[in-house]
Amino acid sequence: MVKALSAAILFLAVTLGAQAQASSANFDPAAKVFRLDGGGVSYVFGVNTRGELQQLYWGARLGATDAFPQAAPLPEWASFDSSYSNTPQEFAGWGAGLFVEPALKISFADGNRDLVLHYQSFSEAPNGFDVELKDILRPIVVTLHYAIDPQSGILARSATIVNQGAEPVTIEQAAAAAWALPPSHYTLNYITGRWAGEWTLNQETVRPGERIIESRRGSTGHQANPWFAIQAGEPDEDRGEVWFGALAWSGSWRISVEQDQLDAVRVTGGFNPFDFGYVLHPGQSLETPVFYGGYATNGLGGASRLLHRYELEHILPRTVATAGQILPKPRPVIYNSWEATEFKVNEAGQMALAEKAAALGIDRFVMDDGWFGQRKDDHAGLGDWYVNPEKFPHGLKPLIDKVHSLGMDFGLWVEPEMVNPDSDLYRKHPDWVLHFPERAESQQRNQLVLNLARPDVRAYVFGFLDKLLNENNIAFLKWDYNRNWTEPGWMQLAPAEQKKVYVEFTHNLYGILAELRRRHPKVEIESCSGGGGRVDLGILRYTDEVWPSDNTDPFDRLTQQDGFSYAYTPQIMMAWVTDSPHWLNHRTTSLTYRMLSSMQGSLGIGANIAKWNDEEAATAKRLIAAYHQVQPTNVQGDLYRLISPRGGSEFSVTQTVRADKSQSVVFAFIHSTQEGRLFPTLRLKGLDPAAQYALTPIEGKARAGTPAAASGAWWMNHGLEMDEGFRGDFQAAAFRLDRK
Ligand code: GLA
Repeated sequence: MVKALSAAILFLAVTLGAQAQASSANFDPAAKVFRLDGGGVSYVFGVNTRGELQQLYWGARLGATDAFPQAAPLPEWASFDSSYSNTPQEFAGWGAGLFVEPALKISFADGNRDLVLHYQSFSEAPNGFDVELKDILRPIVVTLHYAIDPQSGILARSATIVNQGAEPVTIEQAAAAAWALPPSHYTLNYITGRWAGEWTLNQETVRPGERIIESRRGSTGHQANPWFAIQAGEPDEDRGEVWFGALAWSGSWRISVEQDQLDAVRVTGGFNPFDFGYVLHPGQSLETPVFYGGYATNGLGGASRLLHRYELEHILPRTVATAGQILPKPRPVIYNSWEATEFKVNEAGQMALAEKAAALGIDRFVMDDGWFGQRKDDHAGLGDWYVNPEKFPHGLKPLIDKVHSLGMDFGLWVEPEMVNPDSDLYRKHPDWVLHFPERAESQQRNQLVLNLARPDVRAYVFGFLDKLLNENNIAFLKWDYNRNWTEPGWMQLAPAEQKKVYVEFTHNLYGILAELRRRHPKVEIESCSGGGGRVDLGILRYTDEVWPSDNTDPFDRLTQQDGFSYAYTPQIMMAWVTDSPHWLNHRTTSLTYRMLSSMQGSLGIGANIAKWNDEEAATAKRLIAAYHQVQPTNVQGDLYRLISPRGGSEFSVTQTVRADKSQSVVFAFIHSTQEGRLFPTLRLKGLDPAAQYALTPIEGKARAGTPAAASGAWWMNHGLEMDEGFRGDFQAAAFRLDRK
């Protein structure tokens, strides 16, 4: 518990249970210093002698009585490097000699573009503060929101920008937050990709200049993900300081990592300023997304474990059935027929697959694309959300009833924001799509994007989804989004206002999701965008899981799942077992290997199970049952990436440990054994050294002589050795350890 400084206002200091960390938020009025403490982290900023808000410290938790003097701006380095620019400001306006990324850039109606934000006041907020800044002359008021999580020390930061003047202003650039790190040698970790190739982890030295990670596409994108981790020194899973962050925004976004001329590093993130322009009329305000930031002392592994727990406890929604429960429900094991049938869905075919799926122990049966409108292939039908009468002459009810009678619940694919030009909706409302009049409308996958920012489009989309859920007993929606924006015109607005589409589209998307969840509290939703094109902490407030990639090749998935896990919890990482040879890489793998690859995340089956023989069905059934037994540990436990599959690694291994250390699960994979090399001994992590753990193979064998049970200390120091026969191409093994 932080001891309040003599003159300090201590307005929040909570102790949450015996083991939990306390958080506190203090303001020292004499030094004008704000201090936030949570978990193992302290974050300190203050009003400097010039009146700007300046960051003072972000790192390991400081002593309770440690105090800071009033912040002093950094000096001018040379006539080319102003003090205003050198000073690590919490939220700098573009003006007064700022040469680094601004947090806020505004054009005023009279042509003035100089904005200098000074501290005004603060108020209490849950686990933090709201701190008000104002331009030195003009009535532009910015409230910075801060909240620190008592357990993880993860900070949630965002800003509200208000025009209190009498003239409109245009916001040209608005970040959620800027984070500063002291000069040092750093490695930047960030995630890039492409369709069917998402989740590549990049690791590079932070160098002078700016590294931009962004999407200009109107949505999160496959090409980069709004997450970063900056490690002091070289990348290390277990050791070293890591500062990390994730932006909760599913529209065009940007994170810039900037090393300035004095070697200081800043990370600024928020709305992407490209093609941005948000007009604030008198009295109006703009709320930025939330930029979450955290700090860990135990390497990239420590950072991702903090972030996973935060996502599970604070970001992901709970269904009403589990309200009051601390963690969201582990995902049902699903069957999805997309790769088996593609658009050729019909009542008899889906019922036959449902019978096969139920026999395997599947929990949820999901019908994918093709069930609606005139949807025979991807040329037609999007926008027309009536059940196709040829494929389902009696509607969806007979299929849904059948699925329920087999003991599963029912899920359905939708792509609400899209329209095919060959659809009744487009013929009726051609003006509903994003477009510029008299310009071509670029199609991708033969479809156009509905302008969800429009109130009438929003009402239509919400209306058909609400009706679908009212009329059918649907437990789950797979919400897809299969192209990016082009020609993003919003012609109903005056030219100066049209760029608001970058904000309003995403707000309406969130609004629809929130309202659907409110009206249909039992319905769960997956965020899919041609695979992993819309995965971020913004959409995850309203969705229960994501589809990480259309690439279901089990070997590729190991690297994708590794990259994914740096930013996101395995709880949301859906992973289907599909057919072999795989359609993308033409790689042949065993069913066991495919099953174990998918069991690293939230398991699903997406193969043509109508063609499986008895042996395949028995293997899948056995492994699904084994998966169910360890699933909470596997997807919600602490993840240790013991051997990375990246960089052409011969082996890869992950281990998860349940929060109470009662159970652990290990997955081990061989790409290709070379020169007879034996699998490395696995020195496990995170167990209770004094407890006894029994080892049970889920698949594969431990080396002869391995004890049936041993202490956590044994498994962590001596390690787990694999059977000598564990060699070959695309081999997999899995074990569980249970505390006795
Ligand atoms: C996207 C999804 C796939 C599938 C198809 C259907 O590509 O990522 O899983 O749903 O659309 O058209």
